Amino acid sequence: MADAQARPLVVALPKGRVLDQALDALRSAGLDLRLDAGDRVLRHTGRAGTVIVMRNADVPIYVDLGVADVGVVGKDVLLESGSRVYEPVDLGFATCRMSLIRPLGARGVVRRVATKYPRVTASYLARVGSTAEVVALKGNVELACLTGLADAVVDIVETGSTLVANELEEVDLILRSSARFVVNRAALKLRARELKPLIARLRRAAAGEDPPAE
Ligand code: PRP
Repeated sequence: MADAQARPLVVALPKGRVLDQALDALRSAGLDLRLDAGDRVLRHTGRAGTVIVMRNADVPIYVDLGVADVGVVGKDVLLESGSRVYEPVDLGFATCRMSLIRPLGARGVVRRVATKYPRVTASYLARVGSTAEVVALKGNVELACLTGLADAVVDIVETGSTLVANELEEVDLILRSSARFVVNRAALKLRARELKPLIARLRRAAAGEDPPAE
């Protein structure tokens, strides 16, 4: 237990737009993480902890396997990962929805659905009683609808501008997503003295409450 406390906290964060918001949220909860200069640096070591930066889909893997103690990742990615990490705080940013999307005005039975989220999509289709086939793609999945690869897609909608630009529409809302603070289950026990107060401060900040007076 002493060893786990002795090593600096390891924090897995997704590269891209969410990185700065995640760092701000953690800093405002008292975790003074620093990033070294240089876009290509993947591991940043500081007194408050080590930040490792990765693709968002990899965050649950690093946290689940205990290489990172904690992380920040979207609920959409977390559900798709099927990971068993502890998810104590909805940080409230990076909000978006995951929806079933079809060409404007499309009718008829959906037979094939393309998506970057095959696990969530399969469970959604089972829930609504559809036997449509799921095709897993890596990106720009809306293209599948435009080209006839699939007659629907399941994807993220944030501003809606991708839908408008490609004459598509949401036909069913599957889930709402936002950034979550996630914790490795063993670390939660081994590092309880530092993680429980951090979780409490993140919860208060996410709820818009002032920190208690010292
Ligand atoms: C995401 C998502 C949609 C788009 C939605 O893609 O997959 O394509 O953003 O955003 P909007 O509603 O604001 O237009 P992303 O840009 O992450 O790229 P990708 O499809 O290559 O993963």
